[in-house]
Amino acid sequence: MSGLVLNGITKRFGGLTAVDTVTFTVEPGEVFALVGPNGAGKSTVFNVISRFYTPEEGTASFDGEDLLAHPAHDIAGLGIARTFQNIELFEQATVLQNLLVGRHRHRKTNVLSDLFHLPSVRRDERAHRAAVEDVIDFLDLQPHRDRPIAGLPYGVRKVVELGRALATQPRLLLLDEPASGLSVEETQDMAFWIEDIAKQMGITVLMVEHDMGLVSAVANRVMALADGRELATGTAAEVQSHPAVIEAYLGTGNVRKVAG
Ligand SMILES: Nc1ncnc2c1ncn2[C@@H]1O[C@H](COP(=O)(O)OP(=O)(O)OP(=O)(O)O)[C@@H](O)[C@H]1O
Ligand SMILES: [Mg+2]
Repeated sequence: MSGLVLNGITKRFGGLTAVDTVTFTVEPGEVFALVGPNGAGKSTVFNVISRFYTPEEGTASFDGEDLLAHPAHDIAGLGIARTFQNIELFEQATVLQNLLVGRHRHRKTNVLSDLFHLPSVRRDERAHRAAVEDVIDFLDLQPHRDRPIAGLPYGVRKVVELGRALATQPRLLLLDEPASGLSVEETQDMAFWIEDIAKQMGITVLMVEHDMGLVSAVANRVMALADGRELATGTAAEVQSHPAVIEAYLGTGNVRKVAG
């Protein structure tokens, strides 16, 4: 089966069930958003897909490949890339160098061919550069390409992280809070990029996001989680107006309870 398929995923930390029998499918080319209050289990779902965590129950596959049969270091090779809630980049390296790191999985050459500087190495190097330059152009990172990450404003670092994930040329992109900490203008740019990534590049996107404006603008479908469990799935409007979702956000219990 193509796309991302999670079935009955449960992840516990000691006595805490962070993700509780979560099931969803992200169709190829779709933008699917996970929303929910802090601690709902959204990032844990990402960490299961990228195999940092092994779930106690459930199955997970991408384009028919059993993800749980693979260790974390295989995941990029299966065409899955991610960004992190807390930006994770090489601080002392430049933007260009960080993006080239993303190309690692495509390297065909080995240490010996590198050592003798064979023509294949130079061809390979040019191909990597070209892929990275495309990402730099797409994300308007040209002015920053040779600057170290450490000196860049937060909003630019956020874009570089997206760029590093894109440079791997994934088929599935996991974005953990792509708009957190961004200005209104930067969030708007992020929305356009996510749309282009899905529509023009044909990359499937699973995102976690608190900014419902961004979610409404880009997501085909939305799943709301609270305390690890699904509350509702549908369009952004459907999910936002769902009583169980409203209750979870208010946390007051004064909205009619319909779920669970
Ligand atoms: N490695 C871990 N060890 C123990 N508990 C964890 C671990 N990772 C997450 N948790 C717990 O699991 C629950 C879900 O956390 P998770 O980070 O998935 O939430 P989230 O929906 O991403 O929240 P936020 O919106 O704040 O990022 C929380 O109660 C969290 O404290
Ligand atoms: Mg999180």
